[in-house]
Amino acid sequence: MPNLSRRDAILATLAAASSPFGAALAQTPTRGVGLGLTRRGTPQLTLGPFYPVIRPLEEDADLTQVQGRRALGQIIDIAGRVTREDGTPVPNAILDIWQVNAAGRYFHPNDPSGAPLDPGFQGAAIIRADAEGRYRFRTVKPAPYADRAPHIHFDVKGKHRRLMTQMFFPGETLNAEDNLYKGLATDTLRGKVTAMAQPKSADAPPLYIWDIALAVE
Ligand SMILES: [Fe+2]
Repeated sequence: MPNLSRRDAILATLAAASSPFGAALAQTPTRGVGLGLTRRGTPQLTLGPFYPVIRPLEEDADLTQVQGRRALGQIIDIAGRVTREDGTPVPNAILDIWQVNAAGRYFHPNDPSGAPLDPGFQGAAIIRADAEGRYRFRTVKPAPYADRAPHIHFDVKGKHRRLMTQMFFPGETLNAEDNLYKGLATDTLRGKVTAMAQPKSADAPPLYIWDIALAVE
């Protein structure tokens, strides 16, 4: 990992120690982690230290409600397709997603932020794409935290391929200051981890489209 920053290396170590996938990840080749070296697929980005070690009470595709309580913050929808690099769908891909709440807090015991938990926010979900690779979920806009721009973590598994990455939001001034975002080598790679805002509809939450391409291994 010659170009991986010391901070990323520390985060990766913490993640490996605290994640249920830690042992497996530690043995996974680190090709491209944080560097966007994947040739045509969506760039890989680090797992980070806050993969949920305690699963939420619900895992469904609506993160804005938990057992009848509603999340604080701006409700948004995110949808897209999981494909291979050649654009063919990855049917029934599993998307493991997690993010901070609208106050910038992960549902994780090691989050040092001091920001409040939100009992109405699910914080994480495991959803399955359909036969055409399409997925969709409802959440709240994640707040920025520490030195990070707003982002959502994704661990996407196809039948034979897996991608750990993060989705960013378009038009965020903080993107330019985010070390992971900046660390991607080109605008093209940064574009691949940035969702597209759809035209606003008066009677629906803002919709962001993000397509995910799994690299051929
Ligand atoms: Fe994060």
